[in-house]
Amino acid sequence: MAEAAAKLAILASGKGSNAERLMRLVANRDDVEVALVATNHASSGVLDCARILGVPTWVFDKTTLAAGGVTEKFVQAGIRFVALAGFLLKVPEDLVAAYPNRMMNLHPALLPAFGGKGMYGRHVHKAVHAAMQRGEVTETGMTLHWVNAEYDEGPAFFQARVPLDGTADTPESIEHKVKALEEAHYAPQVLRAVSESLSLSGIATR
Ligand code: GAR
Repeated sequence: MAEAAAKLAILASGKGSNAERLMRLVANRDDVEVALVATNHASSGVLDCARILGVPTWVFDKTTLAAGGVTEKFVQAGIRFVALAGFLLKVPEDLVAAYPNRMMNLHPALLPAFGGKGMYGRHVHKAVHAAMQRGEVTETGMTLHWVNAEYDEGPAFFQARVPLDGTADTPESIEHKVKALEEAHYAPQVLRAVSESLSLSGIATR
């Protein structure tokens, strides 16, 4: 008998373009399924896309997150992997502890640089731009990493880089460059990490 698909939950806060690409990529797989899209923003664009694709959705608030409600929901739903796709709240310890080496985060810079508290979305690109103007950096990029209890510090499993143009780049153009990398790499690299993790756990239980 074929094994049941491994259930993946996506956590998103914003526009949800990365979440959408991941849902579309996983839609045709039989080893992995997006079993839940969870967001702290009822107006997140990710909800419309999930509904179109028939993926269950859940909107929660900060209090629920802090009280362990997200962990409880994921565990009850049989979620095995969690993909953060533009999730802008701090992931609480109980959720990190429930998904050791099974929760992935996308960061719009080359960690360990430009990570940590306050470093999300446009703030990151502004900081990269300022560093570029000071002559400290000549490139930026995206990072995918496993989540641990320290903000943005879990082990990276994928990075892609793009050169900066010190005379022409603005925070907005830097954001566009990074978004283009995310468009190319986020969904396939998350899926690759999940597939590798599944085949390693298959070897471990054999
Ligand atoms: C992405 O650029 C992602 O790298 C960033 O939020 C954006 C979400 O875009 N994430 C962070 O800053 C996390 N620290 P999306 O909602 O269109 O996928």
